[in-house]
Amino acid sequence: MTLWEGRLGGVPASAMWNFTVSVADRRLLEDDIEGSMAHVAMLGEVGILSKQETEAITAGLQTLSEEAGSGAFAFSDDDEDVHSAVERRLIELVGPVGGKLHTGRSRNDQVALDLILYMRREALGHADGLARLALVLVAAAERLGPEVVVPSYTHLQQAQPTLFAHHLLAYGQMAARDRRRFLDLADRLDCSPLGAGASAGSSLPLSPERTASLLGMSAAFANSLDAVGSRDRAAEYVWCCARALVSLSRLGEDVVLWSTREFGWVTLADEFATGSSALPQKKNPDVAELARGKAASAIGSLTAMLALEKGLPMSYNRDLQEDKEHLFRVDDDLAGATSALAGLIASARFHPPPPAPETAALDLAEALVGRGVPFREAHRVTGAIAARLAAESREFSSLSFSDLADAHPSFEPSDLDLLDPVISVNRRATPGGGSHGSVTAQIAQLRAELSGEGS
Ligand code: ARG
Repeated sequence: MTLWEGRLGGVPASAMWNFTVSVADRRLLEDDIEGSMAHVAMLGEVGILSKQETEAITAGLQTLSEEAGSGAFAFSDDDEDVHSAVERRLIELVGPVGGKLHTGRSRNDQVALDLILYMRREALGHADGLARLALVLVAAAERLGPEVVVPSYTHLQQAQPTLFAHHLLAYGQMAARDRRRFLDLADRLDCSPLGAGASAGSSLPLSPERTASLLGMSAAFANSLDAVGSRDRAAEYVWCCARALVSLSRLGEDVVLWSTREFGWVTLADEFATGSSALPQKKNPDVAELARGKAASAIGSLTAMLALEKGLPMSYNRDLQEDKEHLFRVDDDLAGATSALAGLIASARFHPPPPAPETAALDLAEALVGRGVPFREAHRVTGAIAARLAAESREFSSLSFSDLADAHPSFEPSDLDLLDPVISVNRRATPGGGSHGSVTAQIAQLRAELSGEGS
């Protein structure tokens, strides 16, 4: 039995049914019931349903909600989608009065609402997950303290010494921005499409504002065609997920590098690593690799969401049913990657070797700048020192004061101290930089933001 059996004869062809049926939307079951409850309450308030009808349908939806919560709700192969399943089960429970549930409603506004309810809840879940990850990075940064110095990299070449904490906190900042993006979305999710009907409204005295307020939303749609025909907010949600996964992908890439023998910066906890079925000695960073892999799928899903809508005539078109598979997929991938990477970072042991001494080259140049030498000249002089050492096959660590004095008269013996990475780092006290003071300030700022004070 279909929702539209009055119009079409015979039974749907299985090739048609199997191709068009929506299964992914079963995840919206509880949202569909919540939206239905508000709809029925509104129908009762405006007098479309009698008090008894409202009570009977509400009681049925309540039972349905319990079945959904306990996992007892059973879908049938004859359910075209989650909306049909809810209506079918309601009628089984309360009899023909259940057929009044869909008064003044279409699956077009219903599915648009379900998605908004779903995203409203899940966006907060992602925001919390990303906050937890950022706090794990903050805690790791604190544990590393003021002594653990690594090279910063540009072009994957060692650039300047910096605290490892500084490097981890860069990911903390990215996670905090990714979190904020989900919170910003809440404004645009605060608008109910229910009451838009199939496309152009209803002759019944519906109150979309009332339904919206029953659902805890401050507004109802302004245009019914837009309400049923647009998925920009779903695309935005997928963008937020994809963007966060891109951040996690970069963290993943660093973890993969750090865990190589060549880098040797990190030892992963056994619980957050995998082994090889073939190579007995292997310990692999699969969590980090899959964070990269899931980001690739998320970019595909974001592209799909945008492509889905780009050529659609106004208003609802069945193409839009495809939005859910993409949305749910990135949703799961982001949740999984966030918690697995948080666990990986929290349990990892970091032990990076110090940066190469030549990463102090800019500090040497800036020592000259501090004595009035123009930066361009200081850069040339220091570059020439690096070139000379390379030509003589000497390490920067063999640099002596006479090398410095040969290169420029303004060098002083104490400038050799700059080759000590801890000294070098702590001279660079600019805000947001890698010195201990700056890192401490970054930790305080992130903690304040994530506890809500800065948001
Ligand atoms: N399952 C559809 C979706 O996800 C909603 C149903 C709309 N179907 C229809 N024939 N108007 O978009």
